[in-house]
Amino acid sequence: MTILVTGAAGFIGSNFTLNWLGHSDEKLIAVDKLTYAGNLENLKSIELNPNYIFLHGDIGDSKFIAHILTKYQPRAILNFAAESHVDRSISGPDDFMQTNILGTYHLLQEVRSYFEELSTGLKNKFRFLHVSTDEVYGSLNIDELPFKESDQYKPNSPYSASKAASDHLVRAWHHTYNIPVITTNCSNNYGPYHFPEKLIPLCILNALQGKNLPIYGDGKQVRDWLYVLDHCKAIELVLTKGKIGSTYNIGGWNEKTNLEVVNRICKLLDEIQPLENNKSYKDQIIFVGDRPGHDRRYAINAKKIFNELGWKPEETFDTGMRKTVLWYLNNKQWTKHVQSGEYMNWIEKQYK
Ligand code: NAD
Ligand code: TYD
Repeated sequence: MTILVTGAAGFIGSNFTLNWLGHSDEKLIAVDKLTYAGNLENLKSIELNPNYIFLHGDIGDSKFIAHILTKYQPRAILNFAAESHVDRSISGPDDFMQTNILGTYHLLQEVRSYFEELSTGLKNKFRFLHVSTDEVYGSLNIDELPFKESDQYKPNSPYSASKAASDHLVRAWHHTYNIPVITTNCSNNYGPYHFPEKLIPLCILNALQGKNLPIYGDGKQVRDWLYVLDHCKAIELVLTKGKIGSTYNIGGWNEKTNLEVVNRICKLLDEIQPLENNKSYKDQIIFVGDRPGHDRRYAINAKKIFNELGWKPEETFDTGMRKTVLWYLNNKQWTKHVQSGEYMNWIEKQYK
């Protein structure tokens, strides 16, 4: 049996791929366009695994996808591929529309042709799992209840609007063409291999390099942080036991303001790698201009996935953050390689 993972060289896709091949004998076909966010170094440790095949390409390239589906006959497709950075979606939304909406559409069309030709037995086993975000639900006030699966979609950024559109396409391809889909909507992830343009890895690396830790606005925006491997395990469970046509919210029960998150990073670094002058890394925090349309709060009600499938996060914010900070301290070569080229262009443009 074979599974196909799109966006496998990105942050969550690579964590999923490494974790899957660490415990499964099933073949995994990894597909990635290798945009600035895709990094084959994330997958280096499994290069020689006979169950792993990497294919460079675009989910929106119908011929490429059709060829892969015919050749490898996957029993499941996990769609991680996306443009994922809200700030980039604000300064340049084109790629987001192209990959997240049109890419998903073309992928679904190829999956549809493939699915229709499968035998009844294989049709019953087949799943298309679409990995999405809690940002599709929009922003919560501090006194509002966390997002439930039945909440209305109210996306606010070009990123979340493009993900919302992709979720709707996936839903429609199930309703109209009977493709056995499941969608997951997860909160903010953190952990190893996180590209350092996102808040947590950016602040860990900036702190260690003596640079400013830029907090947008007042820093009181809230996110519900989840350790990436907890997300990957939830996805596996949904793939095996999730109900076809259903959606599952995945979250960490772990709401933190951005300021709390950055303070936690500084405290951990003060303990693990104290500065020689006995100062705290907190002194590097600065407040910068706010993100346009910045969503105030995201929070997930993850009761459905617990009640139906028994999933809950294994890591606490303390254990997950410690693992994450240690990973960045122990993987200096990886960070050196990703902090070049396109990364530097972005940082200079965004924080000038
Ligand atoms: P990422 O940006 O780190 O990785 C995305 C990967 O997709 C990259 O390897 C990139 O090269 C690849 N890709 C982009 N366009 C492609 C295309 N057209 N064809 C093939 N590959 C393409 O993102 P991530 O953080 O790993 O997120 C993965 C998925 O999870 C996304 O769909 C995202 O919306 C969703 N998600 C992310 C978070 C989070 O906190 N990071 C939370 C919830 C959901
Ligand atoms: P980010 O990691 O980009 O994820 P998302 O926007 O998908 O939630 O940002 C997390 C939070 O951190 C968000 O509220 C924006 C904020 N932020 C900063 O304050 N400073 C920064 O330099 C970055 C990149 C993000």
